[in-house]
Amino acid sequence: MTVGMSTLKEGAVNALKRAAKASLAPFNLTISRVQPYEACTLEWVEEAQREGMAVNDYIEKDQRKPALSELESLVFPHLSKASIVCELGPGTGVYTRYLSRLITDGELHVIDSDSNAIEFLRKHLPANPAVRLYVNSGTSLPFEHRDWVDLAFCASMFTGGNLSYFCRYVDEFARVLKSGGHCVFDYFDVCTEQGWQGLQRNMARKRPIFAYAYHCTETIDKVLNSRGFRVLGRSTTGRGSVFVTAQKI
Ligand SMILES: C[S@@+](CC[C@H](N)C(=O)[O-])C[C@H]1O[C@@H](n2cnc3c(N)ncnc32)[C@H](O)[C@@H]1O
Repeated sequence: MTVGMSTLKEGAVNALKRAAKASLAPFNLTISRVQPYEACTLEWVEEAQREGMAVNDYIEKDQRKPALSELESLVFPHLSKASIVCELGPGTGVYTRYLSRLITDGELHVIDSDSNAIEFLRKHLPANPAVRLYVNSGTSLPFEHRDWVDLAFCASMFTGGNLSYFCRYVDEFARVLKSGGHCVFDYFDVCTEQGWQGLQRNMARKRPIFAYAYHCTETIDKVLNSRGFRVLGRSTTGRGSVFVTAQKI
């Protein structure tokens, strides 16, 4: 019988956890895994399980994320089944599942810095040879070549993380997109009345979500324009973020 390295590693980690828990127990203390807010996958899977729902149906309902209709109005008009698409920060794949249905003859490159997210998609996304999954560093796209992607998409990615991450990924989109290619993403815009009210509501919570990032229209446009994009349009979501569509000139 052979025992894989990952089984051995898991066994060692479990033994370590048991020892740590046993030594903390007399002090009424325990250990638990800390997940950064942006690494939402495990947390959302647990929440959905508690509600007895499939995770992506739960997200669509709980987070007011009508993923298919958002894609149909903002993304699909720029795509064909042979397009090359890059999705950043898919989480549990609430949008990926629909993108994957459309892209059958092209390539759908799906990238997340959280290995749990990519592992989840590997297990649950229906098989499609056009889909490639990657765990990245959190600051760059895992491709070296330039000018080959038709569209870069992300949802609820830039609603967290600071402006440096946003600038870096816009640089990366500018690098990999073809000239004339599009990027579509959402963010919280506090220069709109709705965005401002969203910030006020978050700060009025008993426990505000400190991982949220808030930007201004002018800032987002300045970053996009300085990286060679032209903003084509904006559309507000029911959850308070704003989707931007920009085209690489
Ligand atoms: C709030 S979740 C959104 C998931 C999904 N797009 C949705 O709308 O339900 C953000 C996702 O982006 C990923 N993420 C956050 N920061 C990232 C970064 N700097 N690089 C790559 N992925 C990142 C997280 O791991 C997580 O899967």
